[in-house]
Amino acid sequence: MTVLDVIQRSTDFLSRKGVESPRLQVELLLAHVLQMPRMKLYLNFDRALSEPELDTLRTLIRRRAEREPLQHIVGSTSFCGFEFTVNRDVLIPRPETELLAEQAWSFLATLTDSPTTVLDFGTGSGCLAIAIALKSPTTTVHAVDISESALVVARANVLRHGMGERVHFCAGDGFKVVDPSLSFDLIVSNPPYIPSAEIATLEPEVRDFDPRLALDGGTDGLEFYRLLAAQGRAHLKTAGRLMLEFGEGQQGEISALFTNAGWTVETVAKDYTGRERILIARPGD
Ligand SMILES: C[S@@+](CC[C@H](N)C(=O)[O-])C[C@H]1O[C@@H](n2cnc3c(N)ncnc32)[C@H](O)[C@@H]1O
Repeated sequence: MTVLDVIQRSTDFLSRKGVESPRLQVELLLAHVLQMPRMKLYLNFDRALSEPELDTLRTLIRRRAEREPLQHIVGSTSFCGFEFTVNRDVLIPRPETELLAEQAWSFLATLTDSPTTVLDFGTGSGCLAIAIALKSPTTTVHAVDISESALVVARANVLRHGMGERVHFCAGDGFKVVDPSLSFDLIVSNPPYIPSAEIATLEPEVRDFDPRLALDGGTDGLEFYRLLAAQGRAHLKTAGRLMLEFGEGQQGEISALFTNAGWTVETVAKDYTGRERILIARPGD
């Protein structure tokens, strides 16, 4: 069977299984098996696949048909142009979170006092903490997560990017494990924000493969924002900022929550599809 035959047949198969963008998914899996950039497949449509290559590909396509995310199957994903190891223990980094990372390093670049310190609340794979450290050479990031298994992945990612000196992890429940003597220039967080009852309605790739701990934001999805609004200020410098990602449609409630708690909401930034997704607040005037 040739590259083109395999692409066509597997695309039909994944399409019948309800997988979105089936052709792209097949091409990415095939490129992974053949260890070549996806675009190179187009120059190799007539190349015949060996039996071992076909066997490997069939296994991967079957996994994808069962709605396992592509990123878990290939074991990594790109975030802010850097590769991060991912598995079932961490949320797969999302494109909208790249915007949060960009806002973070842009703000850090405006600070004249250096070195600077950042807290990443709920670090997961470590993607935000590590991308910020990579882009802000005088910044130290303290990253906390309640999931020990997520931190195993985050530590592997820190080693992968050689950031062990400037990214420090701490396991435990949010602010309870943050050193109270530290005062941060910036707190970033992409906290769990899905209302508990909505998790069952999500796509299987998310519902069955992202860790529940990374999704569940309590009854109304706002549990972690209440916590950050109530306790964040005590960990921030006076001129510091809090930058948070939130879910689609949560903007009104979240802005009100922070304003009522005495924060000044500076900006609500939109993602690449024009939806409001990032709140930037300072401790008050
Ligand atoms: C939505 S994920 C974000 C992961 C990563 N920052 C990202 O943007 O891809 C939220 C993370 O918060 C962590 N988390 C949940 N409850 C927590 C708590 N009480 N304290 C610290 N981390 C918590 C989860 O384990 C998960 O890794």
